[in-house]
Amino acid sequence: MRVFTYLIDLVEVIDHDVIIVGSGLAGLRAAIEAARTSKDISIAVISKVQVMRSHSVSAEGGTAAVLYPEEGDNLESHIYDTIKGSDYLADQDAVERFVSIIPQEVYQLEHWGMPWSRREDGRIAQRWFGGYNYPRATFAQDKVGFYEMQTLYDTALKYDNIHFYNEWFVTSILHENHTFKGFTAIEIASGNFTAFKGRAGIIATGGAGRIYSFATYALSSTPDGIDLAYRAGLALKDMEFVQFHPTGIIPSGILITEGARGEGGYLINKDGERFMKKYAPNKLELASRDVVSRAIITEINEGRGYRDEDTGMDYVLLDLRHLGEEKIKERLAGIREIAIKFAGVDPIDEPIPIRPVCHYMMGGIHVDIDGKTEMEGLYSAGEAACVSINGANRLGANSTAECLVWGRITGELAAKHALRLISSRSADNSIPKDAIASEEKRIYDGIFHGSGDENPYEIREALTKVMDEHAYVFRTGESLAEGIRKVRALREKAWRHVDDKAKEYNTNFIHVLELDSMLRVCEVVLVGAYRRLESRGAHARLDYPKRDDINFLKHTLAYYGEDGPQITYLPVRITRYQPAERKY
Ligand code: FUM
Repeated sequence: MRVFTYLIDLVEVIDHDVIIVGSGLAGLRAAIEAARTSKDISIAVISKVQVMRSHSVSAEGGTAAVLYPEEGDNLESHIYDTIKGSDYLADQDAVERFVSIIPQEVYQLEHWGMPWSRREDGRIAQRWFGGYNYPRATFAQDKVGFYEMQTLYDTALKYDNIHFYNEWFVTSILHENHTFKGFTAIEIASGNFTAFKGRAGIIATGGAGRIYSFATYALSSTPDGIDLAYRAGLALKDMEFVQFHPTGIIPSGILITEGARGEGGYLINKDGERFMKKYAPNKLELASRDVVSRAIITEINEGRGYRDEDTGMDYVLLDLRHLGEEKIKERLAGIREIAIKFAGVDPIDEPIPIRPVCHYMMGGIHVDIDGKTEMEGLYSAGEAACVSINGANRLGANSTAECLVWGRITGELAAKHALRLISSRSADNSIPKDAIASEEKRIYDGIFHGSGDENPYEIREALTKVMDEHAYVFRTGESLAEGIRKVRALREKAWRHVDDKAKEYNTNFIHVLELDSMLRVCEVVLVGAYRRLESRGAHARLDYPKRDDINFLKHTLAYYGEDGPQITYLPVRITRYQPAERKY
């Protein structure tokens, strides 16, 4: 497979047929499917990190799928649980499609070498997760993401037509007449600014949870991928819905998997009470995440939490002691190690201090049920995209699953789109030279050679603190408005400069580019939250405590505008379940 490179105005242009940005689960799955669709196309996977440093490796607990209908599970139940979990904001046709495909993906991974944990009878093991009516989280110990990534990476390496560009930072989408043309990027090792020309593109850059300081995410999980789309005039959908996972270990925020509660763990307040019985009498600790996180914060706010004197952080306890040493060592080895190393407690002997932590963005780049964006030839998959199957609250174990399903769908569609353009002789195969030049100017003149007396790292820290303070588990209009004012004030400060003038491996430059995207996307989250005058799923407004289906059973779309995000709305697609009161 040939890859063409040439120069336009001294900028190198690398030409591929399908270009995928992001090397996590969705990106790798898309690359494999594109390669399976045709060996005659070249596929680029561009990532700002090494492949196995993609944040997907951190996924712990499971991949939800109906594997055992003969034992009582069924597709309808997975569909219903997901829609109910979403607080009825999910698009139901997308959920139906998702649920029907994911079992094939679990077996596909198995065939590619995935070491799923096993039941006594040797079949693939599954465990309970929150919000489900059946134990359908398929797992490999508590390191699901790591094993899935390794399986997909090993598989991708077998295809000659997949080319990896590791440690390249994509800065913009090249487009003309609403049609995708490629990307611009900086090779971090050399500092060279380069253009990638492509016939189809997929943005699979994951979530952006590092806009909060207390987060389960890798430090690299900033919104630069989502912001590429936003700056190119595409809509971001439902960004106000941020998931706070109930069990982030304190003080670091590293994830303690829901699998720990799936295996039978308890949540305990300062009075030794298993408090979830007051909030979710049927499901207890296995209610949906939004419900459990609100319960924990309510316990803390009402004085039944603990306080860590060193950090000032409030918390409750996750107690696994009754599970016994054997089960903890066999099924929860990863989180045991995390608890020992990062909180100094061995869960075999002591409960783990936890509090809700930013873990997932339900929102993302607005795409249709095929993962297509509003730009011809450009797709998005995984957490970067909003299809939407997760609505206002995702159920645990549906995220790795979504990456696999829409990685596969978009990989195939992008490959077919590229093949169509290749076979159509009239296809316009140009690349917008002016856009390459203006992007180079934006990032070098506007940022790299900028000046200012504000430390961008301090701005980044202040920004994440604003998000922690103003857009956490409970929100109010007054506090969100204050958050918007603070973000806008931070953006106006003189942070657009790079002190390290090195060309090679200039991580200072990359961090400032990340901050640029964070400032825009934080504003989208806050404005969407401010404008949504209801409580739904993970968006809990103390001043509007009820769900309002008459006025807000709709998706938020945010388009870039000079004066801040321009908000419009889109109806939710309902096929079979009318909104009802959620009880767990
Ligand atoms: O708790 C967990 O293991 C997280 C899983 C998920 O977010 O899907």
